[in-house]
Amino acid sequence: MTKKGRLLTGYRPTGKLHIGHYVGNMQNMIRMQEEHECFFFIADWHALTTKYKDPHALKEDIREMVIGWIALGLDPKKCIIYRQSDLPAIAELHLYLSMVTPMGWLERNPTYKEQLKELGAKLVYTYGFIGYPVLQAADILIMHADMVPVGEDQLPHLELTREIARRFNNYYDDYMKEPEAILSETPRVLGTDGRKMSKSYGNAIYLSDSPEEIKKKVRKMITDPARMRAHDPGHPEVCSVFALHQQFSMEMVADIDKQCREGTRTCTDCKDMLAQRLADKFNDFRESREEYLKIPGFVEDILEGGLHHARPVAEETLHEVRRRMNIE
Ligand code: TRP
Ligand code: SF4
Repeated sequence: MTKKGRLLTGYRPTGKLHIGHYVGNMQNMIRMQEEHECFFFIADWHALTTKYKDPHALKEDIREMVIGWIALGLDPKKCIIYRQSDLPAIAELHLYLSMVTPMGWLERNPTYKEQLKELGAKLVYTYGFIGYPVLQAADILIMHADMVPVGEDQLPHLELTREIARRFNNYYDDYMKEPEAILSETPRVLGTDGRKMSKSYGNAIYLSDSPEEIKKKVRKMITDPARMRAHDPGHPEVCSVFALHQQFSMEMVADIDKQCREGTRTCTDCKDMLAQRLADKFNDFRESREEYLKIPGFVEDILEGGLHHARPVAEETLHEVRRRMNIE
């Protein structure tokens, strides 16, 4: 089968994968590697824009993420997996793009404004952080990506990439490819405390959790608050356990829905069933992960293999950019 178009996406290394990653991104990535020429990379420089004070976990987080990707079914023969910081060409392109990017574009960036509020100026009112979208543009443009799958929050960054590409093309003759954003439908997965599942909230169920850990965590999940007694009628649409059943117990959701509404199903049973599902679903994952963790040089080999494909593309682009900007 010939693959349609070049697709690129990057992730900041966040370490062990959790169910939110799986439902949100990983399922898409596994499918996309069959359909498109895929560039998947670890955005470790992007991680540094917020973790610069305490970067000690970075290496381990990268290792976990790469192992997680492979254990879930990304195949280095079908997609190109690499690490951003292995390609200095990206940093150099970032420099050139920064020359043509007006400050106003960056200051207006809604993601930036939000993060400034959320994380605080002390941490992210930096040269590096305001340039985050320029670095992202370099990631994308250096590989001439046709498509970039993104969540809603990243749409403004993609728009900036396109604007930067247009400006470059204006000054130095058409060269940069304007990538298309593919808005990926990612159901919001809630953690055990009812907030968005995230490592930093400490509410995540990891794919590598043992069946016992999964059971313990699922037992803590918040259900329909209107169900005070076991046989009160429930409202599955407000229950985050039900939301996970919709992802992982597809063939049973109609029954679960009915029994919850009738009050003939207890939340404890419902939770234990979900926990069992999750444990079974990721059984192979847990085994593969354990195995890969033991292989010396496993992650290094994968990243080197990916680099072998990614580097010539990046260097060719950089060469062309230098030529057009008269830096040779
Ligand atoms: N900014 C993205 C995020 O926070 C990560 C990222 C970096 C990215 N470079 C990219 C995504 C290039 C798509 C394309 O999740
Ligand atoms: Fe949620 Fe299941 Fe309890 Fe209904 S029975 S509220 S779906 S956990």
